[in-house]
Amino acid sequence: MSKRLYIETLGCAMNVRDSEHIIAELNQKEPYELTSKIGDADLIIINTCSVREKPVSKLFSEIGIFRKYKKDGAKIGVTGCTASHLGEEIIKKAPIVDFVLGARNVSKLSKVIDKRHAVEVDLNYDDSSYSFGEYRTNPYKAMVNISVGCDKSCTYCIVPATRGDEVSIPSNIIVQEIKRAVANGAKEVILLGQNVNNYGKHFSSSGERLNFTGLLRKISLIDGLERIRFTSPHPLHMDNKFLEEFASNPKICKQIHIPLQSGSTKILREMKRGYSKEWFLNRCAKVKELSPDASISTDIIVGFPNESEDDFADTLDVLEQVRFDQLFSFKYSPRPHTKASTYPNQVPNEIASKRLTILQNRHKEILDEIMSSQMGRVHSVYFDELKSGGKISGRSDDGRLFFVDGSEELLGKIRDVKVTKTSRGALEGEVIS
Ligand code: 5AD
Ligand code: SF4
Repeated sequence: MSKRLYIETLGCAMNVRDSEHIIAELNQKEPYELTSKIGDADLIIINTCSVREKPVSKLFSEIGIFRKYKKDGAKIGVTGCTASHLGEEIIKKAPIVDFVLGARNVSKLSKVIDKRHAVEVDLNYDDSSYSFGEYRTNPYKAMVNISVGCDKSCTYCIVPATRGDEVSIPSNIIVQEIKRAVANGAKEVILLGQNVNNYGKHFSSSGERLNFTGLLRKISLIDGLERIRFTSPHPLHMDNKFLEEFASNPKICKQIHIPLQSGSTKILREMKRGYSKEWFLNRCAKVKELSPDASISTDIIVGFPNESEDDFADTLDVLEQVRFDQLFSFKYSPRPHTKASTYPNQVPNEIASKRLTILQNRHKEILDEIMSSQMGRVHSVYFDELKSGGKISGRSDDGRLFFVDGSEELLGKIRDVKVTKTSRGALEGEVIS
């Protein structure tokens, strides 16, 4: 009988892809079957996030649960961003942990797996270590990294410390990986990077040097690939050329995540984001001018140090003007290795909580209006997941979640669907052609 792996993934899409790489690496050594029961697992891995304090404290309570329910002899590994950031401190605090593998060290898994208390958390990168077997949770849509790390220094963000400097992956490696995924059934690719539209600034070796627009053009030539998504672009690097390619290339899905963080130019300056409220609004207007049907999502932090009521009002004003199709919003969380954690005038928790509630409630109202207006519209939906109760789900070109009555024969197919029911989180519809 093959060994069993229980893997829990916290955090962002990067981490979801890293978990797939972890599984691929393990399978190259010996086959593991995935299990959702801790007690059945021979290996338990928690792939962590450290962007806010909460997921970090969750790590140690989870380790306590693993200790209680794991079977004798089962190993525990901690991977990902908190592994990078805390390193051997994790083992000191929780000696039950067998190994710690940083976010940039997945390819060293076979080096640590049979050792007790091994720690690999360096931030080196070279193209030769970026080579993984093919493993995908969902064969219909393929996540593909186009860069690792981050070259910005946003004052709230721990990521440059956990994932290291930004390095772009050569386009021939990216194209090969996408071709392989397409041959295995993927019609859609999701390109991943901390700042995807900064692609091409730093490579670790010589070779073809494309920028993000050039990379998009090259990828869209791949036969059999029908849809391209990416996350996340940085508002600062959103030049017109890129937005024109976004609008005119039929393979690029008309869904874009533009992380605002704050609507106040004063706070954006203190966050070192490199753009103003006006620039952000101008870029969103440009997206809407060139691609009127595009959906726009965003990330917002409330309660950044020194955020006044007027600054928060600026954030609400951007929400009113852009009317985001999706909002990911967070209370500011001071992180180690960040400049903002040392700033004076930290905003009291009650005020930050109040602002978060106001922001989220207003966004819910906007979203209800946006979703109701979808009634009767026809979208091209790519079906990628069977659900219970005779339903199948998929995404429209503009990224909306759809459920329709249907079975396997729709999996991996793109169909026109007319919206028959709307709710805040998803749409229901019927296939019309
Ligand atoms: N506190 C709160 N939210 C944060 N994010 C990043 N760092 C912090 C922090 N210290 C948010 C940003 C980012 C998203 C992934 O997480 O909005 O875009
Ligand atoms: Fe992803 Fe950032 Fe969390 Fe790391 S810290 S998992 S890069 S969101």
